[in-house]
Amino acid sequence: MNRRRFVQSLVGTAAATKLSMAAAVPATTAQRLAQDPLRPQYHLLPVANWMNDPNGPIFWRGQYHMFYQYNPDGAYWGDMHWGHAMSADMVHWQQLPVALAPTSGGPDSAGVFSGTAAVVDGRVQMMYTGVRSVPEAEATIQNGAQSLLETQCLAISEDEGLRHWRKLDKPAITAPPAGMQVNGFRDPSPWRQGDVWYLTLAAGSKERGGAVLLYRSRDLRQWEFLHVLAERAGSIAVPLDRPDANEVWECPEFFSLGEGSAQRHVLIYSTNGKSYWLSGRLEALTMRFTPEEAGLLDFGSYYAPKTQLDATGRRILWGWIPETRPLAEYKAAGWAGLMSLPRVLTLSPDGRLRMQVADAVETLRGREQKVEHGSAALQPTSQMEKLQIKNDCGELRCAAERGTAPWELSLVGDSGRSWLSIAYSPADPHQLAVNGTHVPVSGRDNCEMRVWVDGSVMEVVLNGESACTVRFYPDGGPAQGSQAQTLHPHWSGAATEMRELSVWAMKPISRNRLTT
Ligand code: FRU
Repeated sequence: MNRRRFVQSLVGTAAATKLSMAAAVPATTAQRLAQDPLRPQYHLLPVANWMNDPNGPIFWRGQYHMFYQYNPDGAYWGDMHWGHAMSADMVHWQQLPVALAPTSGGPDSAGVFSGTAAVVDGRVQMMYTGVRSVPEAEATIQNGAQSLLETQCLAISEDEGLRHWRKLDKPAITAPPAGMQVNGFRDPSPWRQGDVWYLTLAAGSKERGGAVLLYRSRDLRQWEFLHVLAERAGSIAVPLDRPDANEVWECPEFFSLGEGSAQRHVLIYSTNGKSYWLSGRLEALTMRFTPEEAGLLDFGSYYAPKTQLDATGRRILWGWIPETRPLAEYKAAGWAGLMSLPRVLTLSPDGRLRMQVADAVETLRGREQKVEHGSAALQPTSQMEKLQIKNDCGELRCAAERGTAPWELSLVGDSGRSWLSIAYSPADPHQLAVNGTHVPVSGRDNCEMRVWVDGSVMEVVLNGESACTVRFYPDGGPAQGSQAQTLHPHWSGAATEMRELSVWAMKPISRNRLTT
């Protein structure tokens, strides 16, 4: 089921106004979650229950604030609130109370959907999509059972800690552009350019597929629709496997990256379970965007990412890492979804997007265990036997040559089962297969593979350019009495092509898998 149908089938059953404390889970639940070996130990996730998209990430008054789509009722999508966490370094997080909840009788009575932070006169404002039930003729989302109206709303922070918010009574954007029939109308992302605010919005139509709408404003309150910034029809975007007339290009965001002649504009958006980037030129006068390059932000379990600038002005990408196991399993586990590690975005000289996990994450590393290939060295394979990632919690870095013989790097559990395989074949040196998924890697020489293993997730970044997030669920989790396992790196194929391999244990960011 694609994400849009998923949203449509589950949306907003309970329009509750509860401002529940994210930390308020019964002690027995917290204890169970703290002992769940599948629950990550150094990724951000809520104390319990469901999370999806990152919302309004912002560095504010010396702290990183992360908000996210959150269901306080359980580990399944629905009743969308904004969860909240804070960090001094983008790595160690403190859980905070829910920031935004649906208001009964308000434009967001059926859910507070995704949105973005903007700073106006020294205050943070959140622009987000409110959804409420309406008769079918007025709806922007319909699924037979429900019909919902999406409008773009504003909430203004009332304190420096961003814990208290005052919502404006009326939405800033109440309806799609005149005459436009939409499949969806959501996820506002405003930014300031000189004295003018611009905003991208997710939409799509039956005739033309997914689209990103561009608006303009002087004050974040009154908005004028300018034009379609990008759309599926005629796009250079990576083709979808299954074209879908009902698609929406969700969570779009548009920003400038690089400097001088290397500067480009980048548009990111998500649709049908995958997230894409387009880079190209923005004509400043007309605000028309001409994409020149395109790609996927991640080839695995990763959706609806959002960016922010960090304390030093780098562009950071955060993504939602969904579950890939059945709903019944994650519902029973009591938690679902997590936030990716922060990834720093840059552009290559030819305008292609590059990414690397922020070096702040290296502060979690314990002692390095290393194998090097060299004349006096042992065969790498025999040295490797000593290398271990205990408790499914560690980092691995490997550099290998792409030569004339195939090779495979894998991570094998205690049972002998391989949970991660990165395979190279000289038949196509411009890609590696990550658990069978083909991931492009440019050049033909040395290749760097980095893997962050945490509970039931592995974030894989290849050559600082392509990512593939893998979920793995050894033995079905604690319900089956499973224990955290030790993972062993294995190398097969051309031994001489493995140049260097290091593993580190990673320090958990909390005592109890972030349940407090
Ligand atoms: C993307 C998305 C957004 C929407 C939110 C609702 O995952 O469908 O388009 O605002 O999730 O939770």
